[in-house]
Amino acid sequence: MIHLDHVSVRYRSGMPWARTYKDAAREASFSIPEGSTLGLVGESGSGKSTLGKVCLGLLRPDAGQAQLAGEPIYGIGRRRPGTLAAVLQHPEWSFNPKLTIGRSIGEPLWRTGITRDEEIKAVVSILERVGLSEDYSSRLPNELSGGQRQRASIARALVTTPKFVVFDEAVSALDVSIQAQILNLIKELQNEIRFATLFISHDLAAVRYLAHEIAVINQGKIIATAPAKSFYSPMADSYVRRLQEASGLIEVDKKEPGL
Ligand SMILES: Nc1ncnc2c1ncn2[C@@H]1O[C@H](COP(=O)(O)OP(=O)(O)O)[C@@H](O)[C@H]1O
Ligand SMILES: [Mg+2]
Repeated sequence: MIHLDHVSVRYRSGMPWARTYKDAAREASFSIPEGSTLGLVGESGSGKSTLGKVCLGLLRPDAGQAQLAGEPIYGIGRRRPGTLAAVLQHPEWSFNPKLTIGRSIGEPLWRTGITRDEEIKAVVSILERVGLSEDYSSRLPNELSGGQRQRASIARALVTTPKFVVFDEAVSALDVSIQAQILNLIKELQNEIRFATLFISHDLAAVRYLAHEIAVINQGKIIATAPAKSFYSPMADSYVRRLQEASGLIEVDKKEPGL
């Protein structure tokens, strides 16, 4: 369903006479079949969010192809509203502080020509599915806890029943016990609604819980793609092993110099 073929992205910054370039993605390729989850894991700055934005059609690759069901993804949000959705790290920034939670969740439906009554029905139904009662609809974002706000952003992402959802560090800002609840919720909703997922995190432990397959990214390059279960035991590559150690999946190798 989602297919990236040798995607490269270069950021340009600075003045015309002092241009600087950053190759944030270098010939990255992966596929996400319908209803399946790909985990994308790597250190901070490795290019995860860049590939997430390519998959959401927000960034046009400088080279290579990014397609959703055979159609270029770039600009798809405008052409087919509601097909793609994202859940990001900081739910406190993703809500308009002056809009009630109900209106914010309903907002992705406004462009689909839905009536106000249908909008309210859809919002109440999705709120219930993410474990928030109907009366959260009339609250403001600052009246919710971090975990509740993340439930609300999941509701907003799913209200249009998208085919594909990107979760970018969606649980990273939450306490560990809340993280587990949200990961469980995402798993349940995937079983019910069957959207394809790109689940991005620096933490292999969170990724492994949801993903069927995991791609590891280092400096914009996908350096390994393997079934999630193969990350339970130490991998040969030292970068991958560092991620495994950082998320507590394997014991730290004390013989390794510089640790
Ligand atoms: N808009 C931008 N302009 C210039 N450089 C950027 C921009 N966005 C990200 N970068 C750089 O590209 C690299 C990859 O960033 P990003 O995709 O956000 O990584 P990650 O999500 O893995 O932390 C980083 O070195 C980052 O500093
Ligand atoms: Mg990021």
